[in-house]
Amino acid sequence: MKILGIETSCDETAASVVEDGVKILSNVVVSQIDIFAEYGGVIPEVAARSHLEAALPVVNKALTDAGCTWDDIDAIAVTHAPGLLGSLLIGTLTARTLAILHNKPLYAVHHLKSHVYANWLSIPDRPTFPLLALVVSGGHTQILYMPAHNQFEIIGTTRDDAVGECFDKVAKILGLPYPGGPSIAKAAAEGDPNKYKLPHPKIEGLDFSFSGLKTAVLRAVQKELGLPISHPSHDLKNHLSQRQVADFAASFQKTAVEILTEKMQMALERYPDAKSVVVAGGVSANKILREGFERFSAFFPDASLSGDNGAMVAAACYFEIQSGVQPVDPYSLNIYPRISIEN
Ligand code: KG4
Ligand code: ZN
Repeated sequence: MKILGIETSCDETAASVVEDGVKILSNVVVSQIDIFAEYGGVIPEVAARSHLEAALPVVNKALTDAGCTWDDIDAIAVTHAPGLLGSLLIGTLTARTLAILHNKPLYAVHHLKSHVYANWLSIPDRPTFPLLALVVSGGHTQILYMPAHNQFEIIGTTRDDAVGECFDKVAKILGLPYPGGPSIAKAAAEGDPNKYKLPHPKIEGLDFSFSGLKTAVLRAVQKELGLPISHPSHDLKNHLSQRQVADFAASFQKTAVEILTEKMQMALERYPDAKSVVVAGGVSANKILREGFERFSAFFPDASLSGDNGAMVAAACYFEIQSGVQPVDPYSLNIYPRISIEN
């Protein structure tokens, strides 16, 4: 079964053809990072307009790269939530129009579920159920318990910022370019992770909190520079040396990874029947996180599939279909037909 997956929830326009949920036949991702690097973050209206320009060429390239015509495609899957509203609208409207035009069943797929299913792509060894999944992206930080395909229970979630958002905000304080995750990782490679002691949030249970860590970095930078806490955060970068930036990046990254590792350890103690640990979402590209999770023999997607892409949408859709999920009516005006993982 060949599924065309379309993803436009944030600042990547992506389409992919995947066979039987595991074999990538094509994977086209057009990133808007260059546009938003200039602004230091995503501007939703600009993102939606860029998706509009890129959507059809990206879909056409995905079909061409896969050596497919529309006759070969069995279903269309599209990200329907969560994400930037304008960006989601372009993707869902594109998918609905194509489904009607080419008479294909249309499936609306949840973005976080898709991230988890990136772990079924292009790796010989597959996770086994029940499993615990850590989803770490720019908008979410959750631990999910999955007893079987397409069954998700949120057992931990962030009460404020997502960890990816925290990487992005700390990068801004340090004057590192957008997106912050890869910039922090790069700067941290030259730094001392033990130079600055940063606190772990005191949140009981499996929930997370990352806004305090961001503020702790801000205060530590101000203190290091001998500046008052009223000193504007956007100016601090002008006072930091390259060494200080590297040491702050490394210390922050180490603390963020420790927090995620501690919570996963706790989750495994609470769910001793879990047979696999799976990590997903943009932050799963992080090398130090991958090293930290070696103790759990965790599954990580190929680094090229950590960020947003259409292949994971197609993979998630395939396993939804196997679980008996029905297509949505492409004529329906309800573009948010099923929200299975709330937040
Ligand atoms: O999953 P994703 O591509 O988009 C969302 O669904 O949000 O995640 C984007 C997030 C951003 O916050 C970005 O800074 C972070 O993933 N990220 C990383 C790395 N690569 C991307 N964070 C830490 N280390 C990385 N290597
Ligand atoms: Zn994502």
